[in-house]
Amino acid sequence: MKKCIKNNFPPPPPPPVTAARESSLEVVRGDFVVLPCSFFTSSPISKLNVIWTLSPFSSPETPIQVIVYDHGQVIEDRSLTGRVAFTGIPWSADIVLNDTHVSDAGVYRCMVNNPPEPADPDIGELVLSVLAPPSLPVCQWNGDIDVGGSVTLSCSVMEGVPTPKIHWDKLNPKEISLPINMEGDMSGSVQIVNMSSQMSGLYRCSATNPLGTENCYLSLSIYTPDISSGILQGVLLTLSMSLVLLALLVLMLWLRRMGQNGRWREGKEECYSEIRYTAPPMKRSFV
Ligand SMILES: *[C@@H]1O[C@H](CO)[C@@H](O)[C@H](O)[C@H]1NC(C)=O
Ligand SMILES: *[C@@H]1O[C@H](CO)[C@@H](O)[C@H](O)[C@H]1NC(C)=O
Repeated sequence: MKKCIKNNFPPPPPPPVTAARESSLEVVRGDFVVLPCSFFTSSPISKLNVIWTLSPFSSPETPIQVIVYDHGQVIEDRSLTGRVAFTGIPWSADIVLNDTHVSDAGVYRCMVNNPPEPADPDIGELVLSVLAPPSLPVCQWNGDIDVGGSVTLSCSVMEGVPTPKIHWDKLNPKEISLPINMEGDMSGSVQIVNMSSQMSGLYRCSATNPLGTENCYLSLSIYTPDISSGILQGVLLTLSMSLVLLALLVLMLWLRRMGQNGRWREGKEECYSEIRYTAPPMKRSFV
C-alpha cells in the first residue's frame, strides 16, 4: 500500500513523514519552496517510482514532468534543470524548487508507485502560487490637449501576482482620485472631457498589490485660449490691413483714371478734399 497525500486527505497509518501538509502554497518569486508529498509503503523501496507533474496556470492543457525518480535515477525537466531536486528520496518524495518564477505557478501532482505493490498510485495534488510585486506600469495619453478637448489617460502593468489594482490620481493642486475604466485586468484608463486649464497638472497611475506599489506619471499642460485666439486676432488684423491697402489701391487707380479723363481740372479741389475725407475713417474702423 502506498500513499501520496496532501493535508486535506486523512494521513495514512502509520505515515513516515507527516509534517503539516498544505494543499495550496504561496511563495514570493525568487524564493525557494518545498513541495511536500508523503507516502507510506510496506514493501522495500528498491523499485520506488515517483513522478511529479505540473499543469501550469499559463497552459493547463500541457502538463510537464517536473522531476522523476525511477530505479534510483533522477530525471529533471530540462526547463527546470538546476532548480528542482528531491529533498530526501527515497525516504521522502518532497521536492524543493529554487529561484521560483511566476511561470512555475500551477497544479503540482506527485504519483508514487512501489512495485510489486498493486499499481494503484495515489496522487497528491497541490496548488502553487508564485507571488510577484507589480512591474512598472506604463502611462500614456492620447486626445487633444486643448480647452474643450478630450483626453484619455491610460495605464497598463505587465506583471504582478495577485493582479495589481490600478488607480489614477491627480496630484496637484490637491490630490484627487479619478474614476477609472478597466480594460481587462491589467490596464485602466481615465477619460477627461471638455478640458479646461484647471485640468493641467501632474497625474499618477499606481499599480498595487500586497507585495508593493509602482507608479508612473503624466504631466498635462492644457493650452490656454490666449494662444489660439491670439492667432485669430493676428489673422483678422492682417486681413483688415490688406483690405485697407486694397481700398487705397482702388482709390488711387480711380483717381488716376479721373485725371486721364480730364475731369480732374474741374473738380480738383473737391477731389482732394474727398480723398482727405474718406481715407481716415476707413483706417479708423480697422486699426
Ligand atoms: C537550492 O538552493 C539551496 C540553497 O541555496 C541549495 O543548497 C540547493 O542545492 C539548491 N537546489 C537546487 C536544485 O538548485
Ligand atoms: C465645458 O466647460 C465650460 C467651462 O468649464 C462650460 O462652460 C461648458 O458648458 C462646458 N461644455 C460642455 C459641452 O460641457
